[in-house]
Amino acid sequence: MRALLWILLGLVIGAFAAISVANALQAGSAVHKGVMHLMKYHVGEARKVLTADSCKAAPTGHFEALAILSRDISPVYQPIGERDELFGQYAEKLVSVTASAPGAAQDCATGKEQLGLINERCSACHRDFK
Ligand code: HEC
Repeated sequence: MRALLWILLGLVIGAFAAISVANALQAGSAVHKGVMHLMKYHVGEARKVLTADSCKAAPTGHFEALAILSRDISPVYQPIGERDELFGQYAEKLVSVTASAPGAAQDCATGKEQLGLINERCSACHRDFK
């Protein structure tokens, strides 16, 4: 009888441990997806501005947001095991483009060039890791 109680206690503790681990992973993945979805939003808004007939200026604000968000990729992904060196290199390549995009995009034409470069960097990582 006493052994049975110990077994039950073990099962209950095990279940709680499993639930906390699952919650931790869940919270992690919400942040990962959040970073990606916000980047997608800013890329989409930048594209809308740049492809509109009325385009007059580069969407500098969206490029600035992408510069900040892309810097979050490496620190946010590493804790759940995306430690691969290649992953870090892809993230770094995106950061290097987004860091200079707000300054390099002087008008709609150069804005389109920058957006093209950014899209290439997104796809390069997605090809290997998504
Ligand atoms: C260094 C790698 C890397 C770069 C760079 C990258 N992504 Fe991702 N992205 C991923 C991975 C990995 C996933 C798969 C989902 C996950 O594991 O969180 C993903 C998933 C996504 C998703 C789907 C999210 C979901 O709900 O599953 C979107 C949207 C997205 N990325 C947008 C972008 C955009 C836009 C850029 C460029 C501005 C970009 N990503 C750059 C690695 C990257």
